[in-house]
Amino acid sequence: MPVKLLALSGSTRAGSLNQALVALAAAEARARGAEVTEISLKAFDLPLYDGDIEANAFPQGARDLKALFRSHHGFLIASPEYNGGVSGVLKNAIDWVSRPTDGEGLVALSGFRGKVAGLMAASISPFGGLRGVAHLRQILSTIQVVVATEQVMIPFALNAFDETGALKEPLPAQLLGGMVARVIDLAERLEPPTA
Ligand SMILES: Cc1cc2nc3c(=O)[nH]c(=O)nc-3n(C[C@H](O)[C@H](O)[C@H](O)COP(=O)(O)O)c2cc1C
Repeated sequence: MPVKLLALSGSTRAGSLNQALVALAAAEARARGAEVTEISLKAFDLPLYDGDIEANAFPQGARDLKALFRSHHGFLIASPEYNGGVSGVLKNAIDWVSRPTDGEGLVALSGFRGKVAGLMAASISPFGGLRGVAHLRQILSTIQVVVATEQVMIPFALNAFDETGALKEPLPAQLLGGMVARVIDLAERLEPPTA
C-alpha cells in the first residue's frame, strides 16, 4: 500500500504562502510515490471548539476532518506563525480532531496516535516561522504524533516563490525534499491507518 499523506496548512486565506508551500510538499511526496490528499481547512465547517457544541452535536465538519486524519499515515503541515505560535485555525482543527467519537476512550487520539508529521512554515519575517513550528512540534508530540526531525522554514516568503510556485532558492527546495523523504520513510515503518 502506498503511503497516504494528508497535506494542509494553518492558513485559510486566498494566496496563502503556507498553502503554496503545502502544494510543493505534496508534489514532492507524489513524486516519491506517496498518495497525497491536499486540503484547505476552509472547506470544513469547524466552529471554535466548545464542549457544549461537542456534547449537543459533534460538528459534521470536525467529524469529516477527523475521518481524513484517521485514514492517512501521516501529515504534511505548514503553519503560519501568529504571534510566536501556531495559527488559531490550525489549533482549533487539531483540538476537534483530537476529540473522541463513536464510543472511543478519552485519549484514543485515533486521528493522531502513531502517525507521522513533517512540518513547514512560510513567513514574511527573517525567522521563517520557526517559533510556530516549534510550537506545533510540541502540540503534535503531546498527542502521540511522530514528528520528523527535518523541518522546513521559508523566511522572507513574499519573495521566495517564482511565478510557477516553485521555490527560487535551491537550499530550501533541497530541505523540503529531505523532509518529505523522511516522512515517507517513517510512515512506511509505522502502523497503517485504521480507517
Ligand atoms: C495575527 C498575525 C500574527 C502574526 N505573527 C507573526 C509572527 O509572530 N511571526 C512571523 O514571522 N509572522 C507573523 N505574522 C505574519 C505572517 O508570517 C504572514 O501574515 C504570513 O503571510 C501568514 O501566512 P499565510 O501567507 O500562509 O497566510 C503574523 C500575521 C498575523 C495575521
